[in-house]
Amino acid sequence: MKDILKAPFITEICKTTSNMYRMGWDERNGGNISYIVPEDEVSQYLDLNKVIRTIPMDFDASFLAGKIFVVTGTGKYFKNVEDNPAANLGVIRVCKDGRGVELLWGYEDGGRPTSELPAHFMSHIERLKVDPEHRIVMHTHPTNVIAMTFVHSLDEREFTRTLWQMCTECLVVFPDGVSVLPWMLCGNDEIGRATAEKMKEFRLVVWAHHGIFGTGKSVDEAFGLIETVEKAAEIYIKIMHMPIKQSITDSQLWILAKAFGVKPREGYLE
Ligand code: 13P
Ligand code: ZN
Repeated sequence: MKDILKAPFITEICKTTSNMYRMGWDERNGGNISYIVPEDEVSQYLDLNKVIRTIPMDFDASFLAGKIFVVTGTGKYFKNVEDNPAANLGVIRVCKDGRGVELLWGYEDGGRPTSELPAHFMSHIERLKVDPEHRIVMHTHPTNVIAMTFVHSLDEREFTRTLWQMCTECLVVFPDGVSVLPWMLCGNDEIGRATAEKMKEFRLVVWAHHGIFGTGKSVDEAFGLIETVEKAAEIYIKIMHMPIKQSITDSQLWILAKAFGVKPREGYLE
């Protein structure tokens, strides 16, 4: 068996959590990541017949039965993951009946997966239906995105349009736009279901006054989406109280869409 601490699916999460902490997005235990790892990759590092313990879940994830994930632990700090991956991360496999997960590695101090596991798993289910290559769900607390949910309309079209107008590349990076949920209690099935419902059509879902969920085929894609939204939100927060002299128009956004071959979400541009 190869050393799991050198497995790319562990080292990549370590690097990313440290990076996200340094971005200032993941204070204390804020944020969580889940990453689908193909069985033939995990089996190079772990004996898949050895289950350390089974962790029950009170929602149905049978669509994901047998799938293996790396998931950050609940209550764990992103700043500490890199120094001690075995305590802060877990490699888990969804049980056959979808009502629990089998721990294959990690959570060494008795830990368990993130409290946002319902939102992660339900989002994985919807994104996999849209894109079989989908792998990552990433949740974080980017400062300016959260700030924006206090001062901007939460209407998805309005919210997306403002972000697109803040920097030229936004439309190219997320032509499918950003979905927005109003404030809800986090860490339960209800917000999980609401998030997953949006994930049928969006790769990005903002939780007002809380944070954001980003998804993708790779860590880079999910991170890149969130990073671009956060950059646009930062510009919005910096300029919103100043007189605007000029901005990017809808016809310029159409020119951009044509040049880069992207299709803006239907009805979002005039
Ligand atoms: P966990 O520590 O359970 O992952 O929760 C952090 C968080 O961001 C909740 O929304
Ligand atoms: Zn959170």
